[in-house]
Order: sequence, then C-alpha cells, then structure tokens
Amino acid sequence: MSAPAAEPVPTTGPDAEEAFLAVRDLKISFDTDDGLVKSVDGLSFELRRGRTLGIVGESGSGKSVTSLGIMGLHRSARAKVSGEIWLDGEELIGADPDHVRRLRGRKMAMIFQDPLSAMHPYYTVGAQIVEAYRVHHKVSKKDAHNRAVEMLDRVGIPEPAKRFADYPHQFSGGMRQRAMIAMSLVNNPELLIADEPTTALDVTVQAQILDLIRDLQKEFGSAVIMITHDLGVVAELADDLLVMYAGRCIERGSAEKVFTEPQHPYTWGLLGSMPRMDRERTDRLIPVKGSPPSLINVPSGCAFHPRCPYAELTGGSSQSVVPELREVGSGHFAACHLGEADRERIWTEEIAPKL
Ligand SMILES: Nc1ncnc2c1ncn2[C@@H]1O[C@H](COP(=O)(O)OP(=O)(O)OP(=O)(O)O)[C@@H](O)[C@H]1O
Ligand code: SF4
Ligand SMILES: [Mg+2]
Repeated sequence: MSAPAAEPVPTTGPDAEEAFLAVRDLKISFDTDDGLVKSVDGLSFELRRGRTLGIVGESGSGKSVTSLGIMGLHRSARAKVSGEIWLDGEELIGADPDHVRRLRGRKMAMIFQDPLSAMHPYYTVGAQIVEAYRVHHKVSKKDAHNRAVEMLDRVGIPEPAKRFADYPHQFSGGMRQRAMIAMSLVNNPELLIADEPTTALDVTVQAQILDLIRDLQKEFGSAVIMITHDLGVVAELADDLLVMYAGRCIERGSAEKVFTEPQHPYTWGLLGSMPRMDRERTDRLIPVKGSPPSLINVPSGCAFHPRCPYAELTGGSSQSVVPELREVGSGHFAACHLGEADRERIWTEEIAPKL
C-alpha cells in the first residue's frame, strides 16, 4: 500500500507517490490551563529515501512537536493529534500505539533535542545502547556489547570500552548528547529525525556527527529530517527545505531554490540573519524584528503580519486571510499574499542585492 494522493501537497521530486514519509495536514495541539496551544496547524510534506529535508524556523515554531508527532510520542490526554502520517505505506496516527512503538528504533529513530529525556538515569549508558540494539536484533550479549562500544567510538566518546559502564550523569552534556546519538543510530534507522543534533557540541565533534549521518544515509538509503537553527548545517546537508512559522509551513522547495531565491518575507529575514562564509556582507538584510507569536492567540490572517514589513501592500488580506501555500516556481511553494509584481520588485530592489 502506498500513501494516497490527497490535497495539493507539494512534491519534492518526480516520484513523490513513493515518498517514504508523507505527512498530510498534521495538526497537533495541547489543552493547557491558559488555552489551546496550536503547535502544529496543518503541516504537509513528503520525504523520499536517501533524501534530507531541513526544517528551519524560530524557537517555538513547532519543529520538535512535529518530530515527536511523527515518532508517535504525544500520548498525553492533553495532546490532540490529527491528519495523516504515512511511513513506508503505513498510516501511523490511526495505528495501534504498540505497533508504532515497535517501529521506533529500526524503522524510525530520533536524535532528541534534550539528551536527558532520551536516557534513563538508572541504567548505564552502554546497557541502554545494548538494550536498544537487542530489541531489533537477535544477537548475543557480547555482540551487542561490541556494537555499543563501536557506536560510542564512532560518536567520538574517548575510551569507549571504559565509558560503556558509566551512568548518564557521569557524562558531560556534550558526551550525553553523543551517547544519545549513538543510541539513535545503533539500528541504522530508515528514517532519522535529528532535532538540533549538534547543539552543545564543539565544531570538530559536530562535523563528525554530520559525517555519521551522511554515512548512514549513503549506506542504508535512510531518509533524514534535519532540524537546526544553524542554516550552515542545512545548506550543507539538506536536499529540500521547509520553513516553519507558528506551526505552519510558510515556504518549501529544494534547498538550493529556497536559499538562492527565497520568496517569503519571513525567509528573507531568516536568511538575513545567517552569517556568510563565502563573502563579507556589506549591506545586510534586516533580520526578522519582534518575537514569535503566541500559539494560543495566533494573529489573524497571515500569522506573520504583525512583524512583516510588507503587510500593508496586500489590501488587508494579510490581516484577514490565512495565505495558502502556492507554487511560486517549479516545486517551490510559499504562503504569502504579496502580488507577483510587488514580490518581484521587493526581491530585485531590496532583497537580492543584499542576500
Ligand atoms: N506538551 C506541551 N504542552 C503545551 N505546549 C507545548 C507542549 N509541547 C510544546 N508546546 C508548545 O508548542 C510550541 C512549539 O514547540 P516546539 O518545541 O515544537 O518548538 P521548536 O520549533 O522545536 O522550538 P525550538 O527551536 O526552541 O526547539 C511552543 O509554543 C511550545 O511551548
Ligand atoms: S501574507 Fe502579508 S504579512 Fe504574510 S508574509 Fe506575505 S506580505 Fe507579509
Ligand atoms: Mg525544538
């Protein structure tokens, strides 16, 4: 069974029907004492095997909530999840939670933003990696032990055979992060969601981890979702890029297109805050002003309108109508009411010269 063709979901390539992961109209909200938090509000995207999708957006835009949703980890009574998540032809939102639990590890794995949440304080680091491996592989304890030591070594833990027996609290923050990455990668997952995998790591280790992820992808054709604030990492690794704002996708397309010809005012601001390695920026773009919106009282119309320098150019639509994603170039989509002529003018006169 393959994912059915539904609403106009942007495709990432010629055979998007064969997407390994297809997310359709995903909505995730939390019932809190202050009101309903709409963390993800109608997100759709697809990802094929062997490809890397970068997801970027400010803090609180819904990146981690999306990831945990795909992994089936929003199980509290306060969390409401709707839409469809197709993984290798199986729909996961309606599936039996025990079945989804069995998919975690081998079929899909996640590098968590918070390494402590992924490791149990009462078991040694090594024992946890062994356990994660043996759930999916019928191997002897010795083989599993060797595999765990190998993985600790590959993520750059010094003296891995010795550190195997340490408890998580005996590891520094950066080492815990690496141990957790070892645990996520131990089963060569077919889908890897890496949520800020390299924060808290120094540059050398960062490069090592990114290489490991690349190896996994090359060797096993894994699909990867890379979430990061570091646009440099995205530029290096991602084939496709999805920009999130207030729980929605506001722009997506090939990483190359989104980087070189971004079409959404929010993306213009995001790229404006990105340091450039290749050249000195003399006349910088203006980074996004103001702070991310409340997800309980999301601004009407385009959620970005209170911060958007161009909101007044749309005859009131920005304030009253939620912009749908529409195709602005081949396989390139943006959700913005700006007319073609205005966008073209702003792009040529204000943005492109400074990008
Ligand atoms: N369990 C929860 N209950 C209530 N609100 C939540 C819960 N989990 C997340 N949220 C809210 O959902 C929104 C999106 O959070 P999320 O963690 O996905 O952001 P993010 O894009 O990953 O940000 P960051 O870049 O800081 O990691 C935030 O406003 C957050 O406070
Ligand atoms: S829809 Fe309006 S407010 Fe939103 S990004 Fe486009 S111009 Fe700005
Ligand atoms: Mg996050």
